[in-house]
Amino acid sequence: MSNEKLLKRALLDEIAIRYGTDKSSKQHDYMRFYEFYFSSFRDQEFTFLELGVGPEDNKGKSLYTWSEYFKNAQVVGVDIRPDAKTIEHDRIIVEIGNLSSLNYLQTLARKFNQNRIILDDASHMWSHQILAFEVLFQTLESGGLYIVEDLHTSFRSLHEQSYADSPVDAFTYFNHLTYCICGRGAQHRNGEKLTLSAMQIALAQQIDMIAFYGKTLLIIKK
Ligand SMILES: C[S@@+](CC[C@H](N)C(=O)[O-])C[C@H]1O[C@@H](n2cnc3c(N)ncnc32)[C@H](O)[C@@H]1O
Repeated sequence: MSNEKLLKRALLDEIAIRYGTDKSSKQHDYMRFYEFYFSSFRDQEFTFLELGVGPEDNKGKSLYTWSEYFKNAQVVGVDIRPDAKTIEHDRIIVEIGNLSSLNYLQTLARKFNQNRIILDDASHMWSHQILAFEVLFQTLESGGLYIVEDLHTSFRSLHEQSYADSPVDAFTYFNHLTYCICGRGAQHRNGEKLTLSAMQIALAQQIDMIAFYGKTLLIIKK
């Protein structure tokens, strides 16, 4: 059986191609992975929070995709650019703020405190990816999904460290969570190389599964 059967390019990818988001199989090919996890929520009422609405030529393409696929979901986009507001429509709303700010993230977490899916496709700066996760993961429902896209930005060869604004890159941060989960807190034989914060250890206890698919990562909350 080929992998195409398990992770099918299906409806979500078709919609993504129609709106032209780079998450479709024309570019990053994330949708066949997401649909595997998203399909059981299709008709349900819930909140989908996406960090990053998109600059001019890409604006709102993923938000329109989620809104069409999830017929009853409230889709919330967050972006630093005030013009992102122009894509608001029917069940799509846009919040304007700076996701590098702890204060702003906490405000966002208070306003949207029960999310089913959170997807981080904003600046890809390592510190922003890590901080957003540490603040917003608490707002996920049990069984909810937290996604961090474009983790290739953690690798020097691809982006020459233009996203490197913290000592630990986002890929390493999330990879270290897998050690906590798999080892249930026990020290791994490479343990001396792991630097886990108290926050990471606490968050790992709330995680059921972490899956890496190409350049993206999906976490299921217990
Ligand atoms: C890759 S685009 C999002 C694309 C969109 N999700 C899609 O798939 O169509 C990243 C967005 O993050 C926004 N962004 C960058 N830094 C940010 C920050 N510090 N706070 C909030 N948004 C930011 C940019 O303005 C840009 O619109």
